[in-house]
Amino acid sequence: MEATISLTVDGTERTLSVDTRTTLLDALRERLGETSPKKGCDHGQCGSCTVLLDGRRHLTCLALAVAYDGAEVVTASGLAGDDLHPVQQAFLDHDGYQCGYCTPGQVCSAVGVVDEAKQGHPSHVTDDLEADPELSDDEIRERMSGNLCRCGAYPGILAAVREVAHS
Ligand code: FES
Ligand code: FES
Repeated sequence: MEATISLTVDGTERTLSVDTRTTLLDALRERLGETSPKKGCDHGQCGSCTVLLDGRRHLTCLALAVAYDGAEVVTASGLAGDDLHPVQQAFLDHDGYQCGYCTPGQVCSAVGVVDEAKQGHPSHVTDDLEADPELSDDEIRERMSGNLCRCGAYPGILAAVREVAHS
């Protein structure tokens, strides 16, 4: 069964017809040519397909495109304006990537992490559920734990998120 949906992707409205079984990741990559979100595991276990969906980070390999008709999608490519987004710049400054395959997902996730903490959302390691969470290194590690990097850029990624979180 096919359905027609509209998505705003990095500021541009796109309309497409999709099989209702199509994941948002496949719709973005295979149908719209948006290759910033990567297909790592396709099973919700690596985070490389992460985008911001209506402002919150989501795994697009676990989302059906048809369920997000009308949504606003921001990929890592769409975060930059005339200058790099502060998270992108911090990844560059702290050498937070190596092969770069996981990087678009890491960057989108990091933007989500900083925003979620600002909004007061606790994580599994938050002690005081009443106070706004401080992004300690343990908090950052926990909140970024859904994004795997196979080549060991974790120290740089942690440093990048720490810098943005505390700026
Ligand atoms: Fe989506 Fe791995 S490709 S979590
Ligand atoms: Fe993340 Fe290599 S930089 S997998």
